[in-house]
Amino acid sequence: MATTSQSEKHTEARKAIDRLHAEARSADELMKGITVLLNQHMLKYNWVGFYMLEPGAEPPVLVLGHYQGAMTPHTRIPLNQGICGAAASSGKTVVVDDVSQDSRYLACSLETKSEIVVPIFVHGKVAGELDLDSHFPAAFGSEDRELIEYCAQLVSNRLEREPATT
Ligand code: SME
Repeated sequence: MATTSQSEKHTEARKAIDRLHAEARSADELMKGITVLLNQHMLKYNWVGFYMLEPGAEPPVLVLGHYQGAMTPHTRIPLNQGICGAAASSGKTVVVDDVSQDSRYLACSLETKSEIVVPIFVHGKVAGELDLDSHFPAAFGSEDRELIEYCAQLVSNRLEREPATT
């Protein structure tokens, strides 16, 4: 059997995400499905989860939502802490190739070597983020970033169409 290239893997994952997007009945269902699909399809995506800003919280805090992977002690993260806080407060994707070299890093698992956090916007404001950890150093290249930003965009679009819960 021919081996599957990295690009083919990304294309397959995107197709699976598109099918999920067509079938998901809510943003919540979509987010849950994205964590499962990314974790299953991509060998190096060892922890996949969403953190969403708690509505109305002052100071703002990110709260852990759906995730796949090991349990994390970081279920609530203020915006001035962690790589998660950095991505949410800057509104920019943060890629860390070697977490041991980043003083912002909050350890979730001793096995984690690299991380990517992509913000999710609702009507122009950060509402949460999609966070991935890998047991491999520098696991998140440009194709990974595109795939994960695509997932974050789908969630963003779906959240914008749902009535606010607060
Ligand atoms: N490493 C993150 C914390 C969340 S765990 O990775 C699941 C951070 O530095 O913000």
